[in-house]
Parts: sequence; structure tokens; C-alpha cells
Amino acid sequence: MPRAFAISADAIAAERERVGGDLDQFDVARVIHLDEHTLREVGPQDVHLRILAVSAEHNVDHAALADTQNIAEVRGGKIYPGNSAVGEVLAVGDRVTRFAPGDIVLTHCNGEPDIYGYPLRIWAYDQPDSVGWYGEEAVVADWQVIPAPLDCGLGLWEIAALPLRAPTAYHLWRRGLGIYRLKVPREQRAQLNVLGFGGGVSELFLMLAEREGHRAFFCSGSPERRKHLEQLGIEGIDQKQFNRFASRDDVKAFSNLTRDLTGGERMHIVCDMLRGPVYQAGLVVMGRMGVNVSAGWQLDTKCQYNSANLSVRQITLDHSHYETVDGCRAATELYGHVFKPTVHREIYAFEDLPRAIREMGRNVQTGIPIVRVAEEMPEVVKPLIG
Ligand SMILES: NC(=O)c1ccc[n+]([C@@H]2O[C@H](COP(=O)([O-])OP(=O)(O)OC[C@H]3O[C@@H](n4cnc5c(N)ncnc54)[C@H](OP(=O)(O)O)[C@@H]3O)[C@@H](O)[C@H]2O)c1
Repeated sequence: MPRAFAISADAIAAERERVGGDLDQFDVARVIHLDEHTLREVGPQDVHLRILAVSAEHNVDHAALADTQNIAEVRGGKIYPGNSAVGEVLAVGDRVTRFAPGDIVLTHCNGEPDIYGYPLRIWAYDQPDSVGWYGEEAVVADWQVIPAPLDCGLGLWEIAALPLRAPTAYHLWRRGLGIYRLKVPREQRAQLNVLGFGGGVSELFLMLAEREGHRAFFCSGSPERRKHLEQLGIEGIDQKQFNRFASRDDVKAFSNLTRDLTGGERMHIVCDMLRGPVYQAGLVVMGRMGVNVSAGWQLDTKCQYNSANLSVRQITLDHSHYETVDGCRAATELYGHVFKPTVHREIYAFEDLPRAIREMGRNVQTGIPIVRVAEEMPEVVKPLIG
């Protein structure tokens, strides 16, 4: 049986008891454990994959902490997480025409499209019976995989950083820009000021903005990530200079800086995947007609706003989740041309995946964390490994 990581409700309960309910002391690496699972039979429309590499994602941190929802309990006591992977096709069902053994593919995590194509549920999270890709092998339906653009100029670890974060950024960007353009046409303002706070989704969002000719600002506490983005023409702002917005004075100082940087115009589009203290800072620095987009709630799920204030300033708050399957395919076209992700300096071994998630939660990584699952790589990807 292939090995795969699992999160059980029992392990969460035991860790909660160990730390007396104090989530700051909670160690997700004690909850994510190596397990095994039986693959379902390959059906006519299925693809059998060998997983090569995965990226660590925050929803796994949320699932292990059970801070937003105890998803392992809701799903019957155990989940197999992992919704971003690069894999090699080992076999395909009779009716699969788009893939053949030996192909290298990416997964997307739209678990069940609604009538407009957006996910009702996320694969390996709240989609019932979904088995994730933090494992050695998987069987999925063919609509769940996309050909990997191996000639896009990125290395394998960079490609592995993108299957979940790039479609999210792509969706946020086209929504934010579309909403803004409904209010202010291009003939009135061509170049926008676009701000993103730290994190992989935000940095990809800003790469889209910069490549389309806008001024992009990355407000992050990570010098390594700021440096990488500055090389791509994205201006860095040290979030720690403002104590991560711990007080009103910090927010005011940040507001003054953004005013000065933008000639008083401030930010037209803001991407905030974190909420918590970042949310207020993001609202304060918005210019008239601004749009604040989010698909994340890493620091808090609740937001408050003054409706009169936002109405007078014509500010729009937009919430989204993840891309349509078509949108995921379109985002993949931009790998390497637009998306050039930061990657954490250590590539984790498969057995070290729980540590990768722990270190991601503790915010000590220099880029997107990647886990190498396969020891032996297919010939076709070997040149992409540095
Ligand atoms: N809906 C979706 O489809 C979707 C997709 C992807 C992610 N998400 C969610 O979006 C959030 C961000 O994900 P991501 O993948 O972009 O993140 P990421 O690449 O893992 O980065 C998280 C960032 O959070 C920042 N951070 C950590 N602790 C912080 C604190 N106390 N105060 C301020 N910033 C802090 C760090 O930025 P700096 O240290 O650089 O400032 C870090 O780089 C997560 O909650 C995730 O679940 C949702």
C-alpha cells in the first residue's frame, strides 16, 4: 500500500490536551502522521499518479490545528491532506484521451465545481471522500489534472510551488482588477498602485500586477522574499518596521509611508490573505474607489468595517475562494512568464513533511516550502532539478 500522511481527530485532541488548549504551544508535526491507504481501482476516466513533489499549504496547518474548523472530525475522524502536487502518470483508464503514461501533470484542488465553475468544496479538505496528495501515489479523475509546463523556464521545485497558489492569485487579480475597472476605466487611470501582504499567493498576485504595467508593493516581514520580488520590479516594504500593525500608531505610520510613496493617491487594489491586524492596515491605506480582495484568513476569520466610511470612499471588499478549472489551466500558461515563485532554501524529504508544515506555521521559511516525495525522478524532469 502507498504511504500517505494523515490527520486524525484523535491526534488533534491528544495534542490539544498536551498543550492545555494553548494553540501557540500546539505542534502540528505531532498531529500529521505517516499512514497508508488503499488506492481505489482505476476507473475508465481515471488517472493513476506517482507523486513527485508537493508544496506545503496553509489549509493543512488549519486542518491540524483545527483552528477554523475541525475538518478531520467533520470528515469522520481522519483526512489525508495535500492539495497541490506534481505527479507522473503511471496508468490511465480506457476513456482517458488527454493523458498517457509518462506524462508529468499538476493537480488543482477545485473539488466540486458549482454551476459557474467555482469550487463548492476543496479537494482533500472538505470534499467528502477526497484523498489528498501528500502520499506516494494517487488515483484521480482526469479533470483534476493539468499538463505540467516543463518548458516554461522554471525548475521542478518552482513548478511544484504553484498548483494551488497560482490559480488563487490569478483569480484574485482578475477579480480585483475587474471590480476596479467597473468604477474607474483605463482611460482615466492606466497605472494602478497594487499592494500585497506577505505570503506566496500575494507575491504571485503582485507579479501579475507588475507584468501588466502597474506599481506593485510587497509588504512583508521576510527580507529574502522582499529581495526576490525587488529583482522582479516589485517594491518592498518591511512589515516589521511597523511591528506587524500591533498598534494604531503603527498603522498610522504605514499609512503615511504609502501616502508618500504614491504621491497621495494611496493603493487602488489590496490583496490581504491574512486578515487580523493586517486587515485594518490594508483598509486604511486604500485610495478612493479601492478594491480589497481576499481568499484567506490566516490570522483571523472575522472582519469589521464602518459602512458609512467605506461608502463615502467607494471602497469594495471582495471575498473569493479558488479558481474554476478553466482558470487553473489559464493560470498554468503563466508559469515562468509571469509566475516566478520564491522557494524555501531547504527542499524537505518526504518523511520531513510534518516539520515543513510546522516551520511554515512558525513563519521561519524563506519562500514556499517544497517536499520531494519521489526518490527516483523521471528522466524528463531530471534537468529541472538544480
Ligand atoms: N482560498 C484559497 O484558495 C487559498 C489558497 C491559498 C492560500 N489560502 C490561504 O491564504 C493564507 C495565506 O496563504 P499563502 O499560501 O499565501 O501563505 P504563505 O506563502 O504560506 O505565507 C504566509 C505568510 O504569512 C505571513 N505571516 C505569518 N505570520 C504573520 C503574522 N503574525 N503577521 C503578519 N503576517 C504573517 C508571512 O509573511 P511575511 O513574514 O513575509 O510578512 C508568511 O509569508 C492562508 O490562510 C491560506 O490558507 C487560501
